[in-house]
Amino acid sequence: MDKLRIIGGARLEGRIPIGGAKNSALPAMAASLLTEEELLLKNIPFVNDIYTTRRLLRELGVEVDFDAGQAVRLRAARLRSYEAPYDLVKTMRASVLVLGPLLARVKKARVSLPGGCAIGARPIDLHIKGLQKLGAEVRTEHAYVEAAAEKLRGAQIIFDKITVTGTENLMMAAVLAEGRTILENAAREPEVVDLAELLTAMGASIEGAGTPTIVIDGVSALHGASHAVIPDRVEAGTFLIAGAITGGNIELTACNTAHLTSVIEKLREAGAAIDTDQGRLRVKGGDALVSADVVTKEYPGFATDMQAQYMALMTQAAGIAVITEDIFENRFMHASELMRMGANIRIDGSRALVAGKTRLSGANVIASDLRASASLVLAGLAADGATIVDRIYHLDRGYEKIEEKLRSVGAQIERLK
Ligand code: EPU
Repeated sequence: MDKLRIIGGARLEGRIPIGGAKNSALPAMAASLLTEEELLLKNIPFVNDIYTTRRLLRELGVEVDFDAGQAVRLRAARLRSYEAPYDLVKTMRASVLVLGPLLARVKKARVSLPGGCAIGARPIDLHIKGLQKLGAEVRTEHAYVEAAAEKLRGAQIIFDKITVTGTENLMMAAVLAEGRTILENAAREPEVVDLAELLTAMGASIEGAGTPTIVIDGVSALHGASHAVIPDRVEAGTFLIAGAITGGNIELTACNTAHLTSVIEKLREAGAAIDTDQGRLRVKGGDALVSADVVTKEYPGFATDMQAQYMALMTQAAGIAVITEDIFENRFMHASELMRMGANIRIDGSRALVAGKTRLSGANVIASDLRASASLVLAGLAADGATIVDRIYHLDRGYEKIEEKLRSVGAQIERLK
C-alpha cells in the first residue's frame, strides 16, 4: 500500500493547474448509458474513481477509451448487463449513479446497496423514492436495489433533504421519461448544473438547474455530444489551504472562481490574502491566521468536502474555531489524527472546537476517507519533521498526482511504494 512522506515547513510558491471535477466526471460518464451514440468528455481527472467507473461501465457493455489530454470517449451502443455489482459499489458509492440512466435506457437496473462509509450512514432512500414517483417498481433484496419500469412517467418529486447524486440520478431518469418532471428542493451544486448542461447538449430539455426547482421535459431519445467538465472546486480549495497553511504564495490556474466563493470568503476571514482573476486564484498566507467559525452547508454554502482541510488550517490559526458539520453525521475522523500531531481539538456532536495556534509535529497518520487524507497532507506540510500518511488509496480516488503538484510548488513530499 502506498504512503506519502512529507517533510513540513516549506513555504509553497508557484503555479498549480486545477484538473476537472471528479464529482462532475462521474455522473457525466454515467450519462453515456442514455444514448447509443458517442460521448466525448474532456477535462476528466484521471483518478481512481474514474478508473472504477470505467470498469463498471465496461461491465455494462459501454466502450470506454481514454484519450491523451484528459479526455474519455464512451459509447453505449448495446448494453449487455444492467447490474452494478457489490465489489464495485463497495469501492465507490457513486456507482449508484447508473441506477437512473439504466432504468431510463433499458427499463431495469440492479444495483448493490452501498453501505455506510467513513463519513456516515449515507442511505439512498431518496433516490429510490424519486424513481418510484416516476413509476418504477423498486424492491430491495439480498442488499441489491432492483428497479424496473415498463415506462417512466414524469412526476413532481420533492426531496425531503437535498441530495447531490440523488438529484443527478433523478435528472438522468427523467430526461427519457414521458412528460414533465419537476424536482423540488433539488441540489444546486455546480456539478448538477454541469450534468444538466451535458444532458442538454445530448438533446434533453432541462430548465432551472442551479436553482431548487428543476423542470425536465422528457424526450424520446438522446444523442452523442462533446462536453468539458467543470474544474474541480475541491481540489482548488485544497490547494488554497496549502498556500495559506504554509504562508506561501500560490497561483491556481484553470479554476472556476465563482464556484469557490464561500471558501474564498472564509479563508479571507481567516487572514489569507486571495486575489481572483478570471479562472485564476492567487493565495498568500500571512503569519497571522485567525480562527473563523464555519458551518458546512449545501451549495452555495461552505462544502462539507472542504471541512477536513479547513480543520487542518484552523490548527494554525489563533483563537478557537467552531467547525459545525451539517451534512454528514460522522465526518470528523481526521480530528483524532490531527490531535496525534499536536492539534488541540474537542469534538462535541456535530461540532469540532479547534484551539490554535498549535505546533504540529510530524507523525505516522492514517487516512480514513478522501478529504480526511487531504487534511492530513495539509497538516504534514505545516508540521515539524516527517509525516507519513498511510492508506492513501483514499487520496488517489479523488486527487490526481497531488504529490507532483505539491512538489512543483516546493513541498517536500514523496510517495513511498
Ligand atoms: N441522504 C439521505 N438519503 C439519500 C441521499 C442522501 O438521507 O437518499 C443524506 C446523506 O446521508 C447526507 C445528505 O443527505 O447526510 C447529503 O448527501 P448527498 O446525497 O448530497 O451526498 P452524495 O450525493 O452521496 C455527493 C458527493 C460527496 C459530497 C456530497 C455532499 C459525489 C459523487 N459525491 O455525495 O463527495 O460530500 O455530495 O456535497 O458527487 C467527496 O468527493 O469526497 C464526496 C464525499
